[in-house]
Amino acid sequence: MELDLRTPWSIGGVEIPTRLVLAPMAGVSVQAFRRQGRRYGAGLVCSEMVSCAGIEHRNEKTLGYLRVASDEHPLAIQIFGSDPSVMAEAARMVAAAGADIVDVNFGCPVKKVTKTGAGATLLDDPDRACRIVAAIADAVSLPVSVKMRRGLENGSRACLEVGPRLVEAGAASLTLHPRSAKQMYTGEADHSLTAELVERVDVPIIASGDITSRARAQAVLTTTGAAAVMVGRGAQGNPWALREIVDAEAPDPTREEIVAELVLFIRETVRELGERRATGFLKKFYGWYLGRGRFPRPFKQELVQLQTLDEVETRLFAAAPGARFVLERLQDELPQGDEVLLDLPISIYGGG
Ligand SMILES: Cc1cc2nc3c(=O)[nH]c(=O)nc-3n(C[C@H](O)[C@H](O)[C@H](O)COP(=O)(O)O)c2cc1C
Repeated sequence: MELDLRTPWSIGGVEIPTRLVLAPMAGVSVQAFRRQGRRYGAGLVCSEMVSCAGIEHRNEKTLGYLRVASDEHPLAIQIFGSDPSVMAEAARMVAAAGADIVDVNFGCPVKKVTKTGAGATLLDDPDRACRIVAAIADAVSLPVSVKMRRGLENGSRACLEVGPRLVEAGAASLTLHPRSAKQMYTGEADHSLTAELVERVDVPIIASGDITSRARAQAVLTTTGAAAVMVGRGAQGNPWALREIVDAEAPDPTREEIVAELVLFIRETVRELGERRATGFLKKFYGWYLGRGRFPRPFKQELVQLQTLDEVETRLFAAAPGARFVLERLQDELPQGDEVLLDLPISIYGGG
């Protein structure tokens, strides 16, 4: 029998309306991505990682500052760092910005992060990892969640030892991406570890890794006992995958819908990052939206060459004129105003 992904669940006291969580992805999970994820069925969305190094010395390479809108809730904001007291301070700022959950990154495999003792390296230093979680849980009244890899080395089972200790230290939920840090994104996520972790703790577990379809989501939920699945790469330029996973509704999007979602994404991202930053940032999204056989390949190449985002919009509307009406409806439905800016930089060195 199929599981109903619209069954609510909760982390700490925070109710989450569906069993689908949108993954934090540095360089991807901008506000437009998170809001879109909510519209297509994600019950919980997560920010990119914000750097608590920004609290001490403001020289982190950054994409900008995090913006939180009212329709993103429930929202987890992810922080990374290695010093318990600095992380606790970052958590206070995250709470003040209106996050519902503070998520801690113990999964990032990128050298720039691990060499500072943050991210996945903390799986090798469980005492420090626990001190970080305890300090955050003490500092804020929000639930604390942790996102981790299986361990540093291939075949590692560190997550099974560290996970229960993090729960004892105060974690209200764990997300497991069961690849090693060394693997980066190669090979496959081994969700037999997710099943073992579920057995060892009494908090909800979120399963992350290689979930791109309803069939896969159902299989992972059923075989692991996880409370929810997380979708990352499968949702890049493809919110329709989220709808398929949650609601089994899988009509192919029309050209008008694709163009309307992409133009909305462009406009919202310009608002968040500014025109100059957004122009480069958005290029990778053209292929994600227009690929999958949806538009001819040269069309994407043409867009990437254009100098301004105005030209990109014009070219997109020329390819699907009816998209203007779809876009108008989408924009009408978005709440305006009421945003909070978090004064911590978004790190460009994400991963997990
Ligand atoms: C481009 C990219 C950036 C990522 N950035 C983060 C991050 O900032 N924090 C984090 O916890 N995980 C990050 N991840 C890992 C994802 O959240 C997720 O665990 C992983 O991609 C596996 O899920 P998937 O197969 O659905 O993509 C990132 C992944 C990608 C592809």
